[in-house]
Amino acid sequence: MNQRRIPRKRTYLLCAPEYFSVQYVINPWMDPTAPVDVELAVKQWDRLRETLLGLGHTVHVLHPEPGLPDMVFAANGAFVVDGTVYGARFRYEQRTAEAAAHRAFYEAQGWRYVAPTVTNEGEGDFAYLPDAHGGTILAGYGFRTEVSAHAEAQETLGRPVVSLRLVDPRFYHLDTALAALDDRNIAYYPGAFSPASQQVLAQLFPDAVLADEVDALAFGLNLVGDGRHVVLNSEASGLASRVAAAGYVPVPVELGELKKGGGSVKCCIAELRH
Ligand code: ARG
Repeated sequence: MNQRRIPRKRTYLLCAPEYFSVQYVINPWMDPTAPVDVELAVKQWDRLRETLLGLGHTVHVLHPEPGLPDMVFAANGAFVVDGTVYGARFRYEQRTAEAAAHRAFYEAQGWRYVAPTVTNEGEGDFAYLPDAHGGTILAGYGFRTEVSAHAEAQETLGRPVVSLRLVDPRFYHLDTALAALDDRNIAYYPGAFSPASQQVLAQLFPDAVLADEVDALAFGLNLVGDGRHVVLNSEASGLASRVAAAGYVPVPVELGELKKGGGSVKCCIAELRH
């Protein structure tokens, strides 16, 4: 492709999987009887962090807390647009305390933090495309985030929110089935969405990169793009070729241990947008 893809420097928030484990089941990927190698999880996560730094991005880290085994999935802690932080409120009590840790981070850094009144799992269910239709928020519901949180996000952030209904429990967060490749385009797996939501996505994003079920099950859509590079799970080789054909540079990373918790690249990363 002759399309020029230009990267833009990003600021991210991550949290090391020091206390990662699979002790409970809140998504179909989690199996508490399967062994988890925490040391390997930390090693893989560290490679992800180094990959982001190597691409020139700024990475902040949150202190992991014992007793919060899913805290590594930092994407779920909030959703930040134009310097305003719309806080998270977790669906399951096992993760509830994570929201306060994220809040403390943002408040210490002087961000404008708005506490939510309804259940929403941050960037797990919200994506932002600054250059799509003047600035568009895509929001998922059906498993975790309440649809009423979409309206609250719109009122908090002052950007139009497009509600998308997730219908396949394996793709329980928006970011397991859809990702921003850059500031205006997305990749997604249509089968994760209701027919009407598929229609909405096709209307808004006619140039989207479409993923198949194999890509999606390999957590390929749980990716992070900076405009040029697309950091994605190494198992998703099909999607890597597809994004390369669209002119992006795929950057595969191995995150096999964290997949046991039902997450990959994007789940580990929250973007801080000034
Ligand atoms: N075990 C975590 C949960 O079910 C995984 C979260 C993955 N995060 C994400 N942004 N999809 O909540």
